[in-house]
Amino acid sequence: MEMQNKIVVVGIGPGNPDYIVPKGLKAIEQAKFLVGGRRALNQFAVDGQETCPITADIQGVMDFIRAKVKLDHVVAMVSGDPGYYSLLDALRREFPAEQITVIPGISAMQYAFARLVLPWHDATLASFHGRTPAAQDIAYKQGKILGLLTDSKYNSQTIAEILLQAGWPKTQTMYICSRLSYDDETVVTTTLGEAINQPAVSHCILIIA
Ligand SMILES: C[S@@+](CC[C@H](N)C(=O)[O-])C[C@H]1O[C@@H](n2cnc3c(N)ncnc32)[C@H](O)[C@@H]1O
Repeated sequence: MEMQNKIVVVGIGPGNPDYIVPKGLKAIEQAKFLVGGRRALNQFAVDGQETCPITADIQGVMDFIRAKVKLDHVVAMVSGDPGYYSLLDALRREFPAEQITVIPGISAMQYAFARLVLPWHDATLASFHGRTPAAQDIAYKQGKILGLLTDSKYNSQTIAEILLQAGWPKTQTMYICSRLSYDDETVVTTTLGEAINQPAVSHCILIIA
């Protein structure tokens, strides 16, 4: 009965399994069909599950889910929170919302603010992960707090340059938050002026505050 089976999208948090909610973990453990990045599959898949790695071939992943959801629930693991730049966008384009259930996770962005003991209710959040934010989102305003996703092209160095061009002062503090929640997590405190001359850090969270 195809429509009774669900695609359960589980946010697995910033990386360390201690930060996944119990309901998400249970859904993953009980899944017959499990989709996720290779690292997540290595970490969470158990014997007897049929798995499908999320690769650049997103259509292949969609085909797997479409075929398997006819047989049972399919659990898809995504990093952080599913509502924040994840496979959920593509799933919403392919499947009706009624067929999808989301189990939220702790976003790397949330974790970064927690790590810095900073409230994030007044922060402007934007993504440089495979995209560039709207100019007004990153424009300078005194007291503004920015939280930014990065990738390898848009990293601590290139983003610092972009922010200086957007009017931010060289003395502005920037926190470079890498490998959040893992044992080798680092948070480096620097300034925009210094960051342009330091080695680039990618796939991190940048907090400008
Ligand atoms: C496509 S986004 C996914 C965001 C995810 N859905 C979330 O809520 O955290 C990937 C980006 O998130 C950030 N990120 C994810 N996990 C991280 C971690 N453990 N430490 C630092 N940044 C992380 C990096 O900027 C990375 O390039």
